[in-house]
Amino acid sequence: MTTPTIPVLFGTETGNAEYCADLLVEALEEEGFSASLIDMADFNPDETASHPVLFIVTSTYGNGDPPANAERMLDYLQKDSPKLSGLNFAVCGLGDTSFHHFAQCGKDFEKALLACSAKAMFDRVDCDEDYEVSFDAFKESAVSYLRENKDSLFNPETASSNETDPAAAAATTDFTEAKVGGAERVYQAKLLEKVLLSKPGSAKETMHYELELPDSETGYRVGDCFAVDPENSARAIASVLTAAQMTGDEMVSWRGETIPLREALQSACLQQVTLELVRLVAKQPGAEESPAARVLNQENAQITAFLKEHYVVDLLEEHDTSQIEANTLMGALRKLQPRLFSVASSPTKDAQRVGFTIETVRYERKGKALEGVATCWLADRVHVGDSFPLRLVKNDDFQFPQDGTPVIMVGPGTGIAPFRAFLEEVEACQAPNDTWLFFGHQHEAYDFLYETEIKRWLENGTLDRADFAWSRDQEQKVYVQNKIEQSAEKLWAWLERGARIYVCGDAEGMAPGVASAFKAVATKQGGIHDADAWLQQLVDSGRYKTDVY
Ligand SMILES: Cc1cc2nc3c(=O)[nH]c(=O)nc-3n(C[C@H](O)[C@H](O)[C@H](O)COP(=O)(O)OP(=O)(O)OC[C@H]3O[C@@H](n4cnc5c(N)ncnc54)[C@H](O)[C@@H]3O)c2cc1C
Ligand SMILES: Cc1cc2nc3c(=O)[nH]c(=O)nc-3n(C[C@H](O)[C@H](O)[C@H](O)COP(=O)(O)O)c2cc1C
Repeated sequence: MTTPTIPVLFGTETGNAEYCADLLVEALEEEGFSASLIDMADFNPDETASHPVLFIVTSTYGNGDPPANAERMLDYLQKDSPKLSGLNFAVCGLGDTSFHHFAQCGKDFEKALLACSAKAMFDRVDCDEDYEVSFDAFKESAVSYLRENKDSLFNPETASSNETDPAAAAATTDFTEAKVGGAERVYQAKLLEKVLLSKPGSAKETMHYELELPDSETGYRVGDCFAVDPENSARAIASVLTAAQMTGDEMVSWRGETIPLREALQSACLQQVTLELVRLVAKQPGAEESPAARVLNQENAQITAFLKEHYVVDLLEEHDTSQIEANTLMGALRKLQPRLFSVASSPTKDAQRVGFTIETVRYERKGKALEGVATCWLADRVHVGDSFPLRLVKNDDFQFPQDGTPVIMVGPGTGIAPFRAFLEEVEACQAPNDTWLFFGHQHEAYDFLYETEIKRWLENGTLDRADFAWSRDQEQKVYVQNKIEQSAEKLWAWLERGARIYVCGDAEGMAPGVASAFKAVATKQGGIHDADAWLQQLVDSGRYKTDVY
C-alpha cells in the first residue's frame, strides 16, 4: 500500500527539535513510509485536517512559550479549533526541567490537538536537555506504531472521516506559505565595533560587539536575544580530519548540497557526539568490545553521559574508523547549533544598532588548547566591516516593566548584558522606574565591565543603587549573593513596594545561589516561614525572572 507523505513538523529556536525531527523522518523512510521534515512556519495550518498522520517535535521558550516558528500553528489549533477527528498524531516536547513550565509547548500542542478531536497514537514524550536517548525511544515508538497500525491509519475510509474544508482537502503538500517565524527575523548585520571590556591582567576576555542592523524595523526589544550561526575553526576541522584519516577533499552530501568534506565540517557539531555516530563506530568490524559498543549495552544515563563527555574527535581517535566513508561520517553528525546572545543595547537609543557582551571561551581539554566555537569565531575571525546573519529570538518573559515598577537586576559577568540594555532604555526614555543593580566579577581593577557607563548612570540617577561583588579582591570570596543578603533590609523594602527581580548569567552556580540569597532575605527580613513557597509565588506572579545559561 502506498501511504501519503507524513508531515513531521518541528518548532525550534536553536535546532534541537529540527535535528530530532530529521532523525524521525529518516527512521520512517527506512521503514518504507514517505515522510517530510517541515518547519512549522512553512506549514499551512489549514492543511492539518487533510493528513491522516502527523508528528510534532517542539521545544519550549520564554516561560513555557512556543518557539517563534511554532506560534502560528499552535494559535490556529487553540483558537480556530478545527475538527480533526481523522487525524492521528504524536508529540515530542523538548525542554529543560530547570524551567518551571517544563516542555510546556509540547503539552500545549497535545492538549490543543485532543481538543480538536485528533487521536493520540501513543503517549507524548517530554525530553530534558539530554534529549537524545529519550527521543530515540519516541522515534522507536513512532516507527513500531506505524508499522503495526499501517492499514487502519492509512485506510482511505478512516482518513476521510476528517471534516476537511474542500480547499484544504484539495491542497497538495505545498509548503510555500510565507514564514511567520524564523526567516522573517533574520537580519544581515555589519560589525561596527569590537571592544575588549576586560583590562590587561584579567583572567577573562570579555568583549563588547556593536552591530549595525539593515533597518530600524527589526522590532527587537531589551530583554530579547539574537542567535548567530558560527563556523568551526580550521584547527578544529583539521583535528577531525586527522583522526578520521581523511583529506577533506572527499565530496559529501550535507544539508542538501554536495560539497567537500572540509567545507561541510565548518557547520557540523564537532563537540558532543550523536547517538548515530556512536552506533556507527560501534558496528565497525572488530568493534564489539570498543567503548562505543560497550556503552550502548548500558543504561540510558550512561549513554547520555558518554554522549556529553565525548567530542567527535575523541570517538574517532578511540576507534578504528578506517572503513567509514566521508559521506557516512557526515550522515552521523548534526548541524552546529546557533548560539544565543542577550541584547546589551537599547533600540530606543538607536534602533539600527545592537550591542552584545560576550565572553570569549578558551579552555584546555586533555592537554589541548580549545576554543569556544561562536565566541572565538566572533573574536578571532569576524572583523570590523564584516556582515553576518543575526536571528532575533524574542523573550517576552524578560521585558522591562512599562508601568514604573521598581527593578532589581542581578547580572554578574556577561549577565550584565540585558541590564546594560535596560539602563540605556531607562536613560533614553527617562523611565520613572527605580533601579538597583547587583554586578560582580573577579577583580574591580580588571573586570569592571561598562565601568564608565555604570558610574555615569549612578551619577545622573538612571541607576538608583549598585552593589558590586569583586570575588577575588580579598581573601574570602564575595559573590553577588553575599551582597544580596547584606542588603536584606533595603531589598525587603523594595520588594514590599512591588519590585521585580531579574537575574541573568551563570545557570549553574550563580542562579541557585541568588535564589537562596533572596529566600534568606525573605526569612530574615520578612519573617517568611516557607521561603520556597514565597519565591515560587514571586515567579508565578512574574516578579522573579531569570535568563540564565
Ligand atoms: C538565552 C541565552 C543568552 C545568552 N547570552 C549570552 C551573553 O549575553 N553573553 C555570552 O557571553 N554568552 C551568552 N550566552 C551563552 C552563549 O550562547 C554561548 O553558549 C557561549 O558564549 C559559549 O559559546 P561558544 O560557542 O563560544 O562555546 P562552545 O563551543 O559551545 O563551548 C562551550 C563549551 O565548552 C566547554 N568548556 C568551556 N570551558 C571549559 C573548560 N574550562 N573546561 C572544559 N570544558 C569547557 C563546555 O562543554 C562548554 O559547554 C547565552 C546563552 C543563552 C541560552
Ligand atoms: C531563553 C530560553 C528559554 C527557555 N524556556 C524554557 C521553558 O520555559 N521550558 C522548558 O522546558 N525549556 C525551556 N528552554 C529550554 C529549551 O526548550 C531546550 O534547550 C530545547 O532543547 C531547545 O530546543 P531547540 O534547539 O529545538 O529550540 C529554554 C531555553 C532558552 C535558551
